[in-house]
Amino acid sequence: MSIDWAIMAVQISPSILAADFARLADEAAAVPNADWLHVDVMDYHFVPNLTLGLPVVEALRKATDTPLDCHLMIADPDRWAPQYAEAGAGSVTIHAEAAKAPIRTLREIRSLGARAGLALSPATPVEPYEDLLGEVDMLLLMTVEPGFGGQKFLDVVLPKIRRARELIGRHGGRVWLQVDGGVDAGTIERCASAGADVFVAGSAVYGASDPVAAIDELRAAAVRATS
Ligand code: DX5
Ligand code: ZN
Repeated sequence: MSIDWAIMAVQISPSILAADFARLADEAAAVPNADWLHVDVMDYHFVPNLTLGLPVVEALRKATDTPLDCHLMIADPDRWAPQYAEAGAGSVTIHAEAAKAPIRTLREIRSLGARAGLALSPATPVEPYEDLLGEVDMLLLMTVEPGFGGQKFLDVVLPKIRRARELIGRHGGRVWLQVDGGVDAGTIERCASAGADVFVAGSAVYGASDPVAAIDELRAAAVRATS
């Protein structure tokens, strides 16, 4: 396998799931060196947890200039994803396991001006989605079972990250490869050297005493692993 490192740029997307929900504007301001703010939307149906929805995304959009990276862990993304794009999200990611009309929904997200993402849970293989790579701007590979922050990184996903990078390379290398779950100073290098370039980190950023320094450290470790 060959990875074309030249076309990859490391980005860090702190997950506000690990932030203080009563002070979201302050928590967004606390990470000025973040490339994105990762917003985990959960509906008690696709995952056994409930977080936030459109009104919070709309409010957050007005409270920060950092682009919002909305990760929809919801049962009916075909119905709701376009509204997140309309609410001003910079990126909207739907789960392949939940979408009934992924191509239509991904096209709708793009037509509304947002980047379109497709997420795969740990046990979902990437190969069946190769033909959809032209429809997406980002592929999200979950490195924990979706639903909760603070879980242990699943090393079993690493070979899939490598295979996904290979598929992306074969299709021009334009698609970003995001990892989400258990990403911290101890696991980020493994993800980066397997081919990931966008890193979600919740506990590792908001659980740190200095979130800005934590982002700098994560970024430096990922850059080291890819150079
Ligand atoms: C889990 C969420 C993640 C979560 C990551 O379902 O999608 O974005 O916030 O949290 P950490 O980084 O703590 O594993
Ligand atoms: Zn997430």
